[in-house]
Amino acid sequence: MSSTNVCPISRVYVWELPVRLYHWVNALCVVALAVTGFLIGRPLAIQMSAEASFSYWFGWVRFAHFVAAFIFFFNFLGRIYWGFVGNTYASWRNFIPYRREQLQEVGEVLKVDILQATVKPMESIGHNALAGITYFLTFLAFLFQCLTGFGLYSAMSQAWLPKMFAWVVPMMGGDFAVRQWHHMAMWFFVVFAMVHVYLVFYHDYVEGRGVISSMAGGWKFVERDVDQP
Ligand code: HEM
Repeated sequence: MSSTNVCPISRVYVWELPVRLYHWVNALCVVALAVTGFLIGRPLAIQMSAEASFSYWFGWVRFAHFVAAFIFFFNFLGRIYWGFVGNTYASWRNFIPYRREQLQEVGEVLKVDILQATVKPMESIGHNALAGITYFLTFLAFLFQCLTGFGLYSAMSQAWLPKMFAWVVPMMGGDFAVRQWHHMAMWFFVVFAMVHVYLVFYHDYVEGRGVISSMAGGWKFVERDVDQP
């Protein structure tokens, strides 16, 4: 090799600290909300001989759901803010397919992920176009869970934040209907999480750019000729 001292790989700082924090806080909250929410919807028939006042487990499950819900909500607001002030990979522009190249890239990603017709790295270093659209759908699902969740909570709380959502329950046909919608939306998160984790591992393998570790340290490793956003 003639240029033995030149490294053909450079590292790019893709995910800033606020994006990484948002990601892991969000992941923890979604798991906590799905588990506690599932228990609220289908409570366990625990039988124990302890005095009733010492076995307040269902109250703790609900309390955990509400604490996680507030963290989830403000974390989500923080990510929306960062979509306007963060770096190019964090920008809201990655989530809305308004450019022709983004739609072309969706086709390319489908060839890799679904058809498995080709095994080649994506040109994009941040989110690929299909991932961006999918995350936009998850943001809509977050919004839906916050609207329905705080709508339900407004009947149980005097705090100003839940009270701002008091209009949701009458608009959506009552408490029972809203609980059903809120419950069904949980399954979107369960399916999303499974597909998301699978694809992260798959792209790590196909691209060889350190996709998995990038959400810990922020860096990806790319060929020199594609390190410009
Ligand atoms: C990823 C987000 C969330 C998931 C997966 C989720 C899941 C669930 C599920 C499955 C239930 C049980 C519904 C039923 O069958 O009756 C539930 C109940 C509930 N959730 Fe959520 N939830 C989420 C976010 C939120 C948020 C942001 C709030 C806002 C405060 C919230 C407030 C509530 C309330 C008030 C109930 C009813 C509790 C009760 O009546 O005892 N949830 N949730």
